Amino acid sequence: MGKLIGKTNIAVFISGRGSNLRYLINYSKKNKSLIKIKIVVSNSIIAKGNLIAKKNKIPVYINNFKNKKEEMKVLKKIKSLNIKLICLAGFMKILSGAFIKKYNHPILNIHPSLLPKYKGLRTHERVLKNKDKFSGSSVHLVTKNLDSGKIILQEKIKVSKSDNVNTLEKKILKIEHLLYSKAIEKFLTTP
Ligand code: GRF
Repeated sequence: MGKLIGKTNIAVFISGRGSNLRYLINYSKKNKSLIKIKIVVSNSIIAKGNLIAKKNKIPVYINNFKNKKEEMKVLKKIKSLNIKLICLAGFMKILSGAFIKKYNHPILNIHPSLLPKYKGLRTHERVLKNKDKFSGSSVHLVTKNLDSGKIILQEKIKVSKSDNVNTLEKKILKIEHLLYSKAIEKFLTTP
């Protein structure tokens, strides 16, 4: 993203558990981290991740994203905070093309598959059904086409014969927790 001066203001968008958010917060607290999490945007008042943000004194902005008007409120908020990068972390809404275009800064997402394989939902189920030997996680740029933007970083894990959706999800979540901050670093420091 070019030459960096100081930390980049980011917003993390969540919908639920927020374990990736937790690891991004941990990373942001390191002296050498390249990011400052200015706000967490959540589309659910009951998302566990909201509490993680609050405990860490990060403001939480709730919006249901139910129509363009609501989405534009988020955009206004984000712009007012000088957010230069949005990181989607378990965010279950699809951002409109208009939002992506008007925001005009990069948006990253973490997806639990080796993209371009298994875009969309129920990735682990499909990996197991197809008896794939490997799965993993990808951090990619968000474009108007779902899970299709440029891949920034990926990590593989081996799928064992005994794996089920739960064990696979756990294995992948574990690698995601470190992968996201690594991908952000790579993205922010690659010219
Ligand atoms: C992660 O597996 C991520 O790849 C996917 O949703 C899950 C979010 O988990 N997009 P958490 O809310 O960060 O715990």
